[in-house]
Amino acid sequence: MQEIFKTIENIAIKISDALKYADLGYTDHKNQTGDTQLKLDVLSDEIITAEFKDVKSVKSLISEEKTDEELLNEDGEYIVAYDPLDGSSLVDVNFAVGSIFGIYKKSLSAKNLVASVYTIYGPRLEMVVCKDSPKLYRLKRDGEFGFVRELKLQEKGKLNATGATQKGWSDTHRKLVNTLFERGYRLRYSGAMVSDLHQVLLKGGGLFSYPATSDAPKGKLRVSFEVLPFAFIYEKAGGATSDGFSNSLFDIEIKELHQTTPCFFGSVDEIETLHQIYGKKS
Ligand code: AHG
Ligand code: MN
Ligand code: MN
Repeated sequence: MQEIFKTIENIAIKISDALKYADLGYTDHKNQTGDTQLKLDVLSDEIITAEFKDVKSVKSLISEEKTDEELLNEDGEYIVAYDPLDGSSLVDVNFAVGSIFGIYKKSLSAKNLVASVYTIYGPRLEMVVCKDSPKLYRLKRDGEFGFVRELKLQEKGKLNATGATQKGWSDTHRKLVNTLFERGYRLRYSGAMVSDLHQVLLKGGGLFSYPATSDAPKGKLRVSFEVLPFAFIYEKAGGATSDGFSNSLFDIEIKELHQTTPCFFGSVDEIETLHQIYGKKS
C-alpha cells in the first residue's frame, strides 16, 4: 500500500507541473460519461498509467478517461480506480482542481475499498491520504510531502455546497438547501468536487450535495472513482454520507465501471437534516 501512496506523490508532482505549463484545449473524443475530453484530462491519465505500470501490487486501473479496466499485473492485489483530473473545465479560469484515487482490494465493490487519496492542485500542492483516518500532507520547498495534520469533521458545520442544474432540482432538494440557508449556512461551490469537499472537510463541516435532477435522475458523479473515495474519507473523519435515502454511500452496489449516483457528504448533523427532509430507507 505504501508503494501506491508513494506513486501517487510522484503523480501529483507531475500533474501539478503539467497543469502549470501544458496546452489547454479539447481533444476530438468523448469519455464514457459523455464529457469532451480536455487535453489535460488525457495527459493526466497518461501520467498516472505510466507511473503505475511497474507497481507490482496493482492488478488493474479503472479511470474516468478509459472505457474499460486496464490490466497491469495479474498477481497484483489492488485495483486503483481514479479520476485523473477532477474539475478539469476550471483549469482555464485557474481554480483549484485535483485527482481522486480509490484503492480496492481484489475486486471492485464498495466493501473492498481499503484506502483513498486525493490530491489538490491549488496555490499549494496538497494530498489527503486515508487508510484508518484522513491525513493531510503538503509539498514542501525541498520537494517532499510533509505531514500537516489529521482531519476530523465536527458534529455540525457552516458550509452548504450544492451542485447540478438548479432548474432540475426536486422540491425536496430545494427545501433541504433552503433549510440550511435559513439556519445560517453559507454557500460555497466552485464546481470541482475535490476543492469543494476539501473546503468543507478542512473548515470542519457542512454539506456537499450532488442530487438527482430531472435531467440526470442518477446524478452525475461516478461511484467508483469520485463518490466512494470521498465517502471513505468523510466517514473516517467522523462524518456521514448518503445517496439521499440510504444510511451510507457504501450501500451502493457497483454494476458498471462508470455508474453514477446522487450523493451527499457531510457532518452528522447535516446528514440528519437531509434524512428529515428526504426521508430514509429502513
Ligand atoms: P470532472 O471534471 O472529473 O468531469 O468532474 C466535474 C464534476 C465535479 O467535480 C463537480 O462537483 C461537478 O462535476 C460539477 O458539476 P455541476 O457544474 O453540474 O455542478
Ligand atoms: Mn471528476
Ligand atoms: Mn475528471
